[in-house]
Amino acid sequence: MPSQIRIAPSILAADFSKLGQEVRDVVEAGADWVHLDVMDGHFVPNISFGPDVIKALRPHSQAFFDCHLMIAPADPYLEAFAKAGCDGITVHAEAGPHLHRSLQTIRSLGKKVGVTLNPATPLSVLENVLDDIDLILIMSVNPGFGGQKFIPAMLDKIAAAAAMIGSRPIDLEVDGGITVETIGAATRAGANVFVAGSAIYKGDGVAAYRANIDGLRQAADSRST
Ligand code: DX5
Ligand code: ZN
Repeated sequence: MPSQIRIAPSILAADFSKLGQEVRDVVEAGADWVHLDVMDGHFVPNISFGPDVIKALRPHSQAFFDCHLMIAPADPYLEAFAKAGCDGITVHAEAGPHLHRSLQTIRSLGKKVGVTLNPATPLSVLENVLDDIDLILIMSVNPGFGGQKFIPAMLDKIAAAAAMIGSRPIDLEVDGGITVETIGAATRAGANVFVAGSAIYKGDGVAAYRANIDGLRQAADSRST
């Protein structure tokens, strides 16, 4: 598993009236990836934004666009998200009956392939697709909203996912309730990519975002303590 720590701010917590600037600011502040939470009001009880917004954001940064699709079905829209400029596309295992087909489609579109699991979904659904993915995303809240509390039982799930990944080149990402209080435990459990919305888009502009990202990085780095 890659060991490089990556911080992926979720623009769900940004000011939607100035999203282009919010993307530029968070990347200037030290973000590694930009996390894009797409919600359809059907798979999750909230609606966010779709491919046209991502396409409009693309010229604002060359950072890795990490797209988390909370939509069902996902398959009819994968090409639109690829064309919009996503670098990685992550689908929920619960979003349809043909997970492997979704993963093949993302691969064929030339994008990094991710799978994510709701808190109640067992890791066993990944056993037969490990050779087809670049990223596993463990949801540490029930998807749909920012600002929720990290579910502690997900630490064991992260550790089990890390063991399942072994030496494969698969990133292990965690999403939901990541703060300076929770990121250390998630790192020790084995995650290497951290989504954070409300913990990063707090305060206004580059200086505040930099302090928030640096704080998370330091808390993640103190993993041996
Ligand atoms: C939840 C989203 C998360 C969320 C994280 O459905 O997938 O990415 O925005 O927000 P925080 O960091 O505030 O928990
Ligand atoms: Zn997300």
